[in-house]
Amino acid sequence: MSAQATKSEGLAGIIAGQSAVCSVEQGGLYYRGYEIHDLAENATFEEVAYLLLIGDKPSGAELEKFKKQMIEARALPDHAVELVKKVAKAPAVHPMDALRTVVSYLAHFDPDCQDNSKEAELRKSIRLTAQIATIIGHMQNVIDGRDIVKPDPALGHAANLLYMMRGAKPTEEEAHIIDVSLILYAEHDFNASTFTGRVIAGTLSDMHGAVTGAIAALKGPLHGGANEAAMEMIQEVGSVDNVEPFMKNAFATKRKIMGFGHRVYKEGDHRAAILHNLGRAYADKKGKEAVKWFEIGEKVQKIMADEKKIYANVDFPCGMTYFVMGIPVPQYTPIFVASRITGWAAHIIEQHENNKLIRPLSEYTGPSGLKW
Ligand code: SDX
Repeated sequence: MSAQATKSEGLAGIIAGQSAVCSVEQGGLYYRGYEIHDLAENATFEEVAYLLLIGDKPSGAELEKFKKQMIEARALPDHAVELVKKVAKAPAVHPMDALRTVVSYLAHFDPDCQDNSKEAELRKSIRLTAQIATIIGHMQNVIDGRDIVKPDPALGHAANLLYMMRGAKPTEEEAHIIDVSLILYAEHDFNASTFTGRVIAGTLSDMHGAVTGAIAALKGPLHGGANEAAMEMIQEVGSVDNVEPFMKNAFATKRKIMGFGHRVYKEGDHRAAILHNLGRAYADKKGKEAVKWFEIGEKVQKIMADEKKIYANVDFPCGMTYFVMGIPVPQYTPIFVASRITGWAAHIIEQHENNKLIRPLSEYTGPSGLKW
């Protein structure tokens, strides 16, 4: 192996390239230079999507044009709706797999599919961002056995996502909570799914293929799938009184506590408290049945901090928040995709703009010198 090679399991601590999209440090999380609390407080998801994809804050006119393009791109072609109806009811399907399948299928009907130019990839990014929300909505309609709910052009992206999933308009507070969660989930540097997308784009393969791979990576419970796994764990705990015995047993059996820990953030995830506070305030208004889930979660967080110095990441409050809003658990990670598509697309465009094939080394540990 060449002298300058550095070995690190899981590429921990390795700088694998340069990027101008996002900075993730214990000291702060920045999208294109804007700090995450500032964005969560003062921006909308559509503004953040524009910022990530185009690279700067939109003017009023630029934002109106972008929102119009997104609204016009929301509807799926009938043949894609038929595919959603098929895959959403398949015997062994998970919504993340169904979403991956439909996104991959949409490539075959996108005239820009084989075009990796920045202009074509911006067009594809807008289409994918708009349509992934529609796929999730239609999927939920099929699972609920109800008619397909078509996108409502009068609603913003977050409100329309909830509307399509439920067939009823959300309250302003619910739409705002989803909008902020989409901002928090939008981008996070070279995380596993984004890096997957960059590796695929790095061979000069196309955006739909890179996004299909990124969806598969995000599904895993060590990554985006943790928001579902965290809520399933909280449901397994079931009551505040059961937290201590549950955690004692988890530590004894070396069970990973989903929604906790992070490869970069070792003193807590900047995004977690923002979403926790919104979800807890919503639960407080809904009453004690909803608050109970946050009380369980808060007790789990205290034990993890006191005994392990391991802190909640964004997936932990996401699980509780989406749960008390009545969003079905298997749709949590698909909703993560509906947001992270903007970060993935920004990185795929950046990779194609200044490409270098991504190909690390491995340390060989197998046998040698054998005769056949
Ligand atoms: C996301 O990268 C990103 O930016 C991802 C993300 C994004 O926005 O894209 O932030 C989104 O994926 C957040 C992470 C969601 N995943 C989970 O919540 C799953 C549970 N978390 C762990 O699996 C773990 O914390 C990771 C995978 C997130 C990070 O793992 P690392 O950096 O590889 O650290 P590690 O697993 O080596 O842990 C170090 C030690 C270990 O102890 P030892 O085995 O060395 O004795 O801490 C322990 C771990 O066992 N530990 C945990 C734990 N997380 C770490 N122990 C129990 N429960 C946990 N959650």
